[in-house]
Amino acid sequence: MTSIGIHDLTVSTAHHVIDLAELAEAGGVDPAKFRVGLGQDRMSVPAADEDIVTMGAAAALPLLERHGTEGIRTVLFATESGVDQSKSAGLFVHELLGLPRTMRVVEFKQACYAATAALQSALGIVARNPGERVLVIASDVARYELDSPGEPTQGAGAVAMLVTADPALLAIEPVSGVAARDVDDFWRPNDSTTAVVDGRLSLTAYLGALTTAWDDFAARGGVEVAEIDRFCFHQPFTKMARKALKGLAQHTGADLKDSLQEETFPYNRELGNTYTASLYSGLASLLDHDDTLAGKRIGLFSYGSGAVGEFFTGIVQPGYQSLRRRDAVEAELDGRVPLTLAEYRELHSAEHPSDTDWETPRVTQGPFRFTGIRRQARQYEVRQA
Ligand code: CAA
Repeated sequence: MTSIGIHDLTVSTAHHVIDLAELAEAGGVDPAKFRVGLGQDRMSVPAADEDIVTMGAAAALPLLERHGTEGIRTVLFATESGVDQSKSAGLFVHELLGLPRTMRVVEFKQACYAATAALQSALGIVARNPGERVLVIASDVARYELDSPGEPTQGAGAVAMLVTADPALLAIEPVSGVAARDVDDFWRPNDSTTAVVDGRLSLTAYLGALTTAWDDFAARGGVEVAEIDRFCFHQPFTKMARKALKGLAQHTGADLKDSLQEETFPYNRELGNTYTASLYSGLASLLDHDDTLAGKRIGLFSYGSGAVGEFFTGIVQPGYQSLRRRDAVEAELDGRVPLTLAEYRELHSAEHPSDTDWETPRVTQGPFRFTGIRRQARQYEVRQA
């Protein structure tokens, strides 16, 4: 059977950045708690004129510039931080990118896991019609209450993936292990812009979903743990991935060292939590930083609070290095504009009810802008060259 998987993937983030050392000092916290204890250095913060749509479109643009739109008949948009209760954020992106009218567009939701559901659906669509390609976009703004324990684990970013037959980056193997259990570890009521979280419970729910998914993976004929060359976990903060690898080692009795996942951390230490995008920005980081992956098997674990998990594997394709974008990702990260803590707090607390027309200030320099709300509908524009 033809292999199917991720042909290419791109990462994009928000305009602003907060240094967590500054946040720690302002809160009277030892900066090492965030840097070492959570494994995070900075977090991206969106400007008033950007959101999951502008980040998602900005992530997808270079993918389409490189590979064209031919054969793309489906856009799957995964997010926790949706901008509308009804309309898919993918439709705004579809318009901004000028994609063909003959297109299936939908939004997926299940906390941080939704991009994996989108990826699995894309694999199914391509399996049925190998000539088709599917654009999967994961884009999120992670927001917790100011001065809460979750605050230093905020972040923002998007990953776009092109899913095709005979992929150039990662051929996804067919066996997958899944887990689901109704648990109130993290959720966001319809009228809240910040997540409600039981931090301690969220850690145990994550680790429980991992072992359940792993056991299901093994029961369904998945490879032995020793046959996996690298691990890439969902990273709400990068220390969580260290806890996950340790948990898997204890569960399987294998000796799994952090060197098997170290290269998945650099982008997420900078971005912060990007919810649905986090697993895949970890994958992008690994592919961009490790030269020795051709033919190697990566084990991926996707977690979504509430709570679900999925463990699956993929084989890195020869020549993957030619698709790297490390310079572009680092340039975008380095180019973020720092906010003062006062500016950040003001942006965080700003409220814009959907029944009031308003125009966003012009802040960002990216290819797409969120321009405001008119007659209760969100408005976007493509930046003119
Ligand atoms: N130097 C070095 N390390 C330090 C330190 C110091 N001075 N002070 C504390 N630490 C360490 C602690 O020992 C601890 O490490 P271990 O867990 O390895 O023991 C770490 O820093 C964090 O310290 P605390 O546990 O005291 O931190 P906290 O209670 O203030 O908050 C948290 C931690 C619960 C994760 C909180 O950040 C939070 O609620 N985050 C949001 C929820 C979350 O991300 N959950 C993850 C699983 S859910 C998921 O994955 C879905 C998702 O994306 C949200």
